[in-house]
Amino acid sequence: MLYHIDFKGEKVVPVGEGQTILQASLAAGIPHYHACGGKGQCTTCRVLVLQGQEQITPPTSYERVIKNVKKFPDNVRLACQSKVNGEGVKVQRLIRDETDRYIFINDSEASTTRVMGERRKLALFFIDIRNFTPFIEANLPFDVIHIMRRIFAIFRNAITQYNGEIIETAGDGLYAVFGLNSKIKQATESAVLAGLKILSDLRIFNNTYMRPYFNHTFEVGIGVHVGKVIVGNVGIGLSNNMTVMGYPVNVAARLQAATRELDNSFVISDLAYRLLKNPPYSMGCGYLTLKGVSNAYEVKLIGKPYETKQATIITESGS
Ligand code: FES
Repeated sequence: MLYHIDFKGEKVVPVGEGQTILQASLAAGIPHYHACGGKGQCTTCRVLVLQGQEQITPPTSYERVIKNVKKFPDNVRLACQSKVNGEGVKVQRLIRDETDRYIFINDSEASTTRVMGERRKLALFFIDIRNFTPFIEANLPFDVIHIMRRIFAIFRNAITQYNGEIIETAGDGLYAVFGLNSKIKQATESAVLAGLKILSDLRIFNNTYMRPYFNHTFEVGIGVHVGKVIVGNVGIGLSNNMTVMGYPVNVAARLQAATRELDNSFVISDLAYRLLKNPPYSMGCGYLTLKGVSNAYEVKLIGKPYETKQATIITESGS
């Protein structure tokens, strides 16, 4: 029996009964990496199965061992260990040149699912410290860094307590996600609880430390939104270099920035708010314009008005 395999972006190759995907691709002239010679030990022949997974033979014992160690998702198969039992199989080679090889082989310790990229529904959390610049200008570098570390410790403790993961820190803010290991409703609940904990811990820090020792208090702006994003790792040689991309990320960042305009320290999209089982008290709604969205975007205000008035306060009303 002769079947066919569609190698995405390359060619459709015939595959005979008993022939592995690797043998078929090599026979058809595809320069398919196979560093261990097809013995199921190097993973350089791995392919991503795009269609027809059910037509591929189950993993061999070699493949099962290696998939376990490397935590490959089900749709990543070793071409040298896989045969085809029918039509409709479409795959993509994952290691196509030396740079691919370097990236994939050096990512071997990381979670392969995240390395390769996947679409996930996550709660997206942006936070930024307000009124930090005057503090920088009025204090010694040692104190500035020390206080920054104290505040970031408050952020980190709350985020990790509620199973969030910090994706990026930039200047006096950071960006975290919730839901890598939970459903979206739980993730949204966690993001909100983390945000509320930060507001409460910061209040204590202001009262017990900042006001008495520095005669200064800090405020923050938090934005939370939910949506489908792409999670992956674009770093080379850096650990924990996860990145999360997609339009909902931009919306969450916009909500955080809108805390100034709306004069409220915690702004959450209406979409996220409706996922909460026990929504916190909301001081009301705000309406924002978003790039590429014609209707005003509804958000809920679940923080407090700022004590130190922000530079720009332009509330966009939907009415
Ligand atoms: S060629 Fe080495 S695992 Fe397939």
